[in-house]
Amino acid sequence: MNRWTLRTANTSYTVEVPDHGRWAELSAWGPRGVEDGPSPLAGHGRTPFRTAADAAPAEYLPFGLRPFGGAELDVRRPGGERGSWWQFAGEQPTEGAGLRLAFLDDLLGLEAVLCYETVPDTDVIRRWVELTGVGADDLLLARLDSAAVNIPVPGGARLTYLVGQWVQEFQLKHIQVERGTFAIGSTQGVSGHEYAPWIAAQDAAQPAGPATPTWGISLAWSGSWHIDASVDSGRLLRLRAGREPHEGEVLLPAGGTLITPQLLLAFSAEGLGGLARVWHTHERLESGPRGRRPRPVLYNSWEATGFAVEQDGQLELARTAAAIGAELFVVDDGWFANRPDDTSGLGDWEPDRDAFPDGFGAFIGRIRDLGLDFGLWVEPEAVSPGSRLLADHPDWIYRVEGRPATLIRNQLLLNLGRDDVRKHVLTWLDKLLHDYPISYLKWDMNRPPTERGRPVSPLPRPADLDAAHVANYHHILAALRTGHPHVMIEGCAGGGGRADAAAIAATDVVWPSDNTGPQDRLTIQHGFLHAHSPHVMSSWVTDSAGFFDTRPRSPRFRFVTAMAGVLGIGADIRAWTVEQRAEAARWITWYKKWRATIHHGAVHLLGAPSDDTCGVQYSAPDGSHEIVLAWNSGLLNGLPQLPGRPDRLRLHGLEPAARYQDEATGSTYSGAHLLHAGLPCAWRTDFDADAVVLRRC
Ligand code: DGJ
Repeated sequence: MNRWTLRTANTSYTVEVPDHGRWAELSAWGPRGVEDGPSPLAGHGRTPFRTAADAAPAEYLPFGLRPFGGAELDVRRPGGERGSWWQFAGEQPTEGAGLRLAFLDDLLGLEAVLCYETVPDTDVIRRWVELTGVGADDLLLARLDSAAVNIPVPGGARLTYLVGQWVQEFQLKHIQVERGTFAIGSTQGVSGHEYAPWIAAQDAAQPAGPATPTWGISLAWSGSWHIDASVDSGRLLRLRAGREPHEGEVLLPAGGTLITPQLLLAFSAEGLGGLARVWHTHERLESGPRGRRPRPVLYNSWEATGFAVEQDGQLELARTAAAIGAELFVVDDGWFANRPDDTSGLGDWEPDRDAFPDGFGAFIGRIRDLGLDFGLWVEPEAVSPGSRLLADHPDWIYRVEGRPATLIRNQLLLNLGRDDVRKHVLTWLDKLLHDYPISYLKWDMNRPPTERGRPVSPLPRPADLDAAHVANYHHILAALRTGHPHVMIEGCAGGGGRADAAAIAATDVVWPSDNTGPQDRLTIQHGFLHAHSPHVMSSWVTDSAGFFDTRPRSPRFRFVTAMAGVLGIGADIRAWTVEQRAEAARWITWYKKWRATIHHGAVHLLGAPSDDTCGVQYSAPDGSHEIVLAWNSGLLNGLPQLPGRPDRLRLHGLEPAARYQDEATGSTYSGAHLLHAGLPCAWRTDFDADAVVLRRC
């Protein structure tokens, strides 16, 4: 028996390869020390007809090796039988903290290396698999997951996941699976609006709360994917995740190596809130020095002007934005020629001369003269039917020869996986950033791939178009960041359609949703913050009522909501009254003072937007203060309340003996009071909101 223990800041993950050498299995995963004793997984997974060995919590299984329970890898030779019966071939050296376990199938000609890496100062472990064709034949892979993880669930599994649709992304949902399989995924070539590639799991025998052991996974993949969560009668939860071989099978050429996307694993002994903090810490570390740059308060003109972008209107917005304290002005869709609406213009990317008669450079200069940085919207993967680009390169889009190409939002999609398309896109973006003083780029994508053919040049079969597209999307982002390190990049896909861990790592902020209605947004942000850090969560104050809960909300409510992440303004501020602008200026000043804590403090999610009162607490890294953003739903136990009902919000993570002073009111509280009695919220109206600073005294 070989045994290894990976250690993160607070957790251990112990893997063994039994003497039979057919697979690696998980011995323990949880708080440090959990590996010291008999395996917590022992006996789990045992069902009638399964031997103890066959029930073992395997780390990664090829189809064939074990009769029941599914497999993470489905491999065959063209024309051959499915399956692999590999054997452990030893541990391979690693760079840094990690583990590489090699398995070899001589007959098939396949080497699979299970790779593990701990991320220093976090409780995150990365797992992936490297598959190499070591025989004479090509291999075909119908399933190539990144990893499987096993969790003992004596009471069945309580799963938490993020579900949605356009304008309703990141809805936090729970489901209890006592037996059977729960599956989520995307076949849209992007991580998608419908589900985030993220899931959290708890043993349903333990009540959900701030001390419930919680395991989570997040797939770093910006294309099609799946996560399956299966609970068997042996009370073992097996989470399996990977990219979806959208074209049926993926080719692994003889001598070639295929690396799966990384699956990020996290554990917290502090419930879903603790798990969220693990993910936040990881995202902050991953974004490195770029993540520590203060996120500018931006103004984006999309909701104010739509496609009707022209110099005078934009400058008027910019003057007002500068006056209320915005730091960056972003012109969204509609700045380029032939774009009166969404039927044309994409692909050619020339500034619209009619809209900017003095020249685009002169326009940007005037924005910058107002003291604002300048940002621009692009949709590099998209092309309109009448564009010059498509006329010149009809073979650059996804289309099946001889078949109609589907239009979504009146546009087609470039096959970004092609080398020539990647070069073209990178060249024009690079030139755009050289030609103009742009410090912010919003990269949008408003349609998924449909017919995934490749006209004119026949497709090598089986193609791996999804992977090629994703790889080049990331390649271009990386090249832009290297070539233009000062430019911040916002990831967007018709709202939150591509906000997975890999896309977030490759950008600076993401746009979680096109729904900017305050109450709807609060719910979206509540889900988002369970998986992602506030410093990547772009949010605007707009005039929008929202799509679902359209009851009026005050500017105060809207500002407190948008300040929970990276604050932006998207309203038609030209129409705002003097009082409204003055109020906006006050909030923006407040936010600038405290944004470092909001972006980098430890987050405590206090209740949910459906509660009477909910909040988000941000604890300053040095412990000197707490920021509490709080909202009142106007409901108590789901019933409408009379306005003006006071409430309390219990805070988390404070020292009971410490004292805290409310900066605005001067009231002081002990930590014990705030933890157990709660922070008083004197709601003046329905749907009130507050931003409180508590200084430790
Ligand atoms: C979808 C984005 O999510 C919006 O913010 C906006 O940029 C539009 N596209 C523009 O077409």
